[in-house]
Formats: sequence, C-alpha cells, structure tokens
Amino acid sequence: MQRGIQFEGRPVWAEIRLSALAYNLRAIRRHLKAATAQGARREPPKLLAVVKGNAYGHGAVPVARALSRAGADWFGVTCTAEGAELREAGIREPILVLTGFWAGEENRLLEQRLTPAITRCEQLRLLDRAAARKHRRKVPFHLKIETGMNRLGVAPAELGVFARTLAHCPHLYLEGIFTHFASSEIFSNEQTESQRAIFEEMLGRMQALNLSAPLVHLANSAAVALRPDTWGTMARPGLVLYGYHQSYDPPDQTAAADAELPLRPALALRSRLISLRDILPGQGVGYNHRWVAPRPSRIAVISAGYADGIPRALTNRGRVIIRGQFAPMVGTVSMDLITADVTDIPEARLGDVATIYGADGAASQYVSEVAHQVGTVTSDLCCALGKRVPRFYLR
Ligand SMILES: Cc1ncc(COP(=O)(O)O)c(C=O)c1O
Repeated sequence: MQRGIQFEGRPVWAEIRLSALAYNLRAIRRHLKAATAQGARREPPKLLAVVKGNAYGHGAVPVARALSRAGADWFGVTCTAEGAELREAGIREPILVLTGFWAGEENRLLEQRLTPAITRCEQLRLLDRAAARKHRRKVPFHLKIETGMNRLGVAPAELGVFARTLAHCPHLYLEGIFTHFASSEIFSNEQTESQRAIFEEMLGRMQALNLSAPLVHLANSAAVALRPDTWGTMARPGLVLYGYHQSYDPPDQTAAADAELPLRPALALRSRLISLRDILPGQGVGYNHRWVAPRPSRIAVISAGYADGIPRALTNRGRVIIRGQFAPMVGTVSMDLITADVTDIPEARLGDVATIYGADGAASQYVSEVAHQVGTVTSDLCCALGKRVPRFYLR
C-alpha cells in the first residue's frame, strides 16, 4: 500500500476495481434469478445497469465496458450526451435515456440508437416526426408513469391523451413501461406499496386499451435487494452495482439487504502526505483555526480537498487511514488540502499513502460510511469525485 499507484502529478487518485463491479453485477443477477428458481416467475428480469452521472463518478466508459463484459443487458443514462459517449466508445447494448430528451435532440438520439423515456405526451409527436425522417424501422421508447414521486412521468389521468396521441404516431413502438420509486429503502411506511399499486392499476388500464410492452420496470437498488414483488421484467440497479446498499429504515433492513445481496465496494480514494509539521499546544491549523492543538502535535498535510470531492462537512470530523491506522482529520477541509493529526502514528512519513475511502491493511472506511457520517447519500459522494482526480481501473 505504501507504494500506491505510481504516476506523475498531484498525488490524489481514485482506484476502481473492475472485478468488484463484475462481482456485484453477477451477485445481482443471481439474486434476481433466485425468485425464478423458486417458481415465482417464468424468466428472471433483465438487468439494466444505471451508469448515469459518469457511472456515479466512477467513469462511464470503463465501467460500462466492464459491466458489458460481465453481462449487463441494458444501460441507463440520464441524457443524450451521456448515451452518445457510450456509443462512441463502442457500447452496443440498448441504452435507455432515463430523463428523456429535449426538443431538438431527437435526431442525435436516434442516430446514436438510444432509447428515450417519454415523460410528457407532447414528446411523442416530436419523436415520431424524427423517426419518420430518420428510420425505416419503428423507433422504440419507454413510457415513464408518474406514480407518486411527482417529478417526471405521464400521470394516470393523462392516459387517455397518451393513448390518443400514440395512435397517431405510426413510427413509434412502446417497448417499455416504467416508474421510479421515491423511497424504496423505507419500510416504515406504505409509500412504495402505494406507487406499486398505482403502477399495476395503470398497466391494467393500458392493457384494456391494447397497450402493453415487453419490458416493465420499477426496481432501483433498494427494491432490487429487498422487494422482489417490484422486479417486473427488468430491474434498474445503480448504487448496488458500485458496491453499496442504501441506508434502510428501519436500519435492521440494512443487515437483511447485506445478507440477501452481499456486495463489494468498487471505489478507493487515496492521496499522499505532502507535508509533516510539529506544532505546539494552542496553535491552530487551517482556515479559521477551527482546530487548535491540545498537546504537542504532528500534523500531516494531505493533497486532497473539496474540489476532489471530499465533503467539507468532514471538517474536524473525518478520518484518513495511514499505514493501516486511522488518523483524525483536524481543521477545515479546504479546496485542495486536508490535515490530519498523526501524533499517534510516529512512523508516518512524507509521501505515505492516505486512504480517504477504501481499505489499507486491516483498516477500512468506505464512501457509504462517510456519506452516513455527513448525512448524505452514498451516490452524492461518489458523484462528487472531482474531475481532476485521475481514475485508475484495476482488474
Ligand atoms: C429512473 C432511475 N432508475 C434507477 C435508478 C437507480 O437508482 P439506485 O442508484 O438507487 O439503484 C435511478 C437513479 O437515481 C433512476 O433515476
């Protein structure tokens, strides 16, 4: 560990373990198959790997390539530009653009063979016109249904308008119907159950109008882990692919999720000690001297800050791992630097590796734990990983 990854430049880097991504995808696949084995359904759901937000900060192209090799059926991105990036990198699986398209983007979307979500009825005509210009085959789309998140989607009351509009769109093909859960990790209320019931009712009403689709999907990570009744014919996991469960409510559900679906965190974030300084009791460290030494102290300066994605909320609260031991972060997390008290690690040396997320020896601290500590979600901290942090992909 002390050698770390060798490269020139500012010493802060992310390590992304491709084998962990493949392991997680296979674990999810096995978990989805279990219900089939128990006779609850005929075929296991397909697996759409959500790689939006630069694959939750891990790097969209290398992650999608690794997940493609591991057998992902579909990919999910947020917009045309994210989908085009994957196509240009040679990803061939179908790609669902989860938040749909903006007027004017239809041609690029179709040129890149991306599958749009339709979230408003008016988008049907735009897409149909583009499809008529561009394609001889019918263009597939997925209909997003609003069931309770109250963000994007065609509401149940709009089903009539949707059906009438679609009847005048001869170049389109309804391939998928989906919704998105607002709080599938919460088991202490009925919200997810209510969304699922509204969705089922919509499917029934659509069937009565002769509208059905081969792909029906609802399940994000928490629903994939613990709500098999939401799996439909495709599941859409994001966070679990990267190796983390949500924080469940009640918390004992987290242990249940771990037991059902054991995962391997894919990400490590590391830096190096670029300065060591002895200070006297009463001397302050960093901006506003938010930490003042209570004893003679040795302070390590580490080359990583909030521009690299370290939450500023870790000021005086975080820890780093140096030589397999935890050292408390002291002082303000600044844009480019953090500081840690290494008084109790006398063997610490200039150039040592400091692990911010990940394992070093017997000690570990994953991004999910840090997210919990600062009161945010794991995806937030993953996506916060700075653009200037080089990513190294370990096989
Ligand atoms: C529509 C949609 N499906 C699936 C996901 C994956 O969610 P998670 O990371 O909780 O699995 C997201 C992420 O926000 C999403 O927006």
